[in-house]
Amino acid sequence: MASWNDSFLIGVKIIDDQHKKLFGMVDEFYLRLADSNNEGPIIMLVKGLKEYSRIHFSTEEMLMEKYAFPGIKSHKASHVSFVNQVAVYEAKLKGNGVLMPMEMAKFLKNWIAQHVASEDKLISAYLDKIDVKKNYM
Ligand SMILES: [Fe+2]
Ligand SMILES: [Fe+2]
Repeated sequence: MASWNDSFLIGVKIIDDQHKKLFGMVDEFYLRLADSNNEGPIIMLVKGLKEYSRIHFSTEEMLMEKYAFPGIKSHKASHVSFVNQVAVYEAKLKGNGVLMPMEMAKFLKNWIAQHVASEDKLISAYLDKIDVKKNYM
């Protein structure tokens, strides 16, 4: 499973900084899991991740709108599916006492890494194609 490395850079600083932070939050999730069985802090972490991913997704979606990225519809749908899946895990953590934090941690890490490496990179490629100077954004 991939941790943050520069192969995930897309070249837009605000987005790259947010991605680094998201990867860091997932790493913290793993550390917390190794550390204790206390569900309290895990629930707080999930809440934080959910909130931060919302902020990140809206940043990305504003960027896609601004430059009329053609794949915006399916990209937004991917973001929605992530938020929904996180909500399902969160409900399980809070609700019926069936804790699957490791499954959740794996999902988060895989999803974020794959999404950045595939879909988010498409935004970057598109900005290059329409000649937007990403390093000045
Ligand atoms: Fe992203
Ligand atoms: Fe995205």
